[in-house]
Amino acid sequence: MGKIQDLIILEKDIIDNIEKSLSLSDIEKIRISSMGKKGAVSLLMRELGTMSPEDKKDYGSKLNNLKNVINNKINEKQTILEDLGIEKLVADEKVDITLPLQKTTLELGRIHPVSQVMDEISEIFSDMGFAIAEGPDIEDDYHNFSALNIPESHPARQMVDTFYLPSDDENKALVLRTHTSPVQIRTMISEKPPIRMIAPGRTYRSDSDQTHTPMFHQVEGLVIDNDANMGQLKWCLEEFCKIFFEINSINMRFRPSYFPFTEPSLEVDIGCSKVGNELKIGGNDQWLEVLGSGMVHPQVLRNVNLDPDVYKGFAFGMGIDRLAMLKYGMSDLRSFFDADLRWLKHYGFKCLDIPSLSGGLSK
Ligand code: PHE
Repeated sequence: MGKIQDLIILEKDIIDNIEKSLSLSDIEKIRISSMGKKGAVSLLMRELGTMSPEDKKDYGSKLNNLKNVINNKINEKQTILEDLGIEKLVADEKVDITLPLQKTTLELGRIHPVSQVMDEISEIFSDMGFAIAEGPDIEDDYHNFSALNIPESHPARQMVDTFYLPSDDENKALVLRTHTSPVQIRTMISEKPPIRMIAPGRTYRSDSDQTHTPMFHQVEGLVIDNDANMGQLKWCLEEFCKIFFEINSINMRFRPSYFPFTEPSLEVDIGCSKVGNELKIGGNDQWLEVLGSGMVHPQVLRNVNLDPDVYKGFAFGMGIDRLAMLKYGMSDLRSFFDADLRWLKHYGFKCLDIPSLSGGLSK
């Protein structure tokens, strides 16, 4: 009865292995090596054919029994391992919903008020049919001064403190542009009327106090047409201010002034009231100068080959930082450029607060 003994050893061996197995793939290997076509139990089954009927009966039933025991054990172990797998999966995927949310960079970052206001201005003028133009920060003397009717000997050259740069290779005198008006010249040279453009950007003057920084921002506006006139200029500026400051009426004062590149020239003040340390739009406790403007000087038109008998134009230049201070209540211009994160966190805008006329300019 050595064969029966072998069966007992084989059973113990396989059952041991099943118990020790740690994964479903281990179980599968055992199933193949015992019950598969060439498995240990299957090979023994084949031997049955060579036995005497009596031996066959006894051995056969033992072998069948062994098959059932192993099959049951395998199924049992398989269920245990499957359950364990699911539990582990659930444990690994557990989320602690009481943990505070981590802020993404998208939420932490802030848009500088100057960028935001530039977008607001562009949105308003785009809606009125103005295109956006650009020019270089480093300008040549011709575009910054001469073409704008400010020849070298002209006293207006001394009106602003210019940052001069070494001349370029062609010996052209270079400056950091003192205003955005050179973009008027560039646009009139490169485009045919009718022209309606605004040009927001950086400008530079050697100046520094509570309301002046050496680098600041302006937006230039230019309209050239056959019949551009001062009524349209006033309407554009008034309409712009009302939409920008989000109020129905605004006190504006148009003062005669002088710029070499406009004739007549006007400076525009907005009526403000003082609340504590802050200036608020509305009222007329105080007039705040926000822009220069006028009808484009005939000589400037001639300088860019436009006939002043055919074309008329108006232009304006506004201080963007000033507009931002007035709208959002900052009192010191210098802090705009200190790169102090606390300031930016307080006055900055979330990056998804994109100004639009339909969605509201400011929230
Ligand atoms: N460039 C002028 C300044 O910087 C402003 C201005 C622009 C005036 C356009 C008239 C027309 O002060």
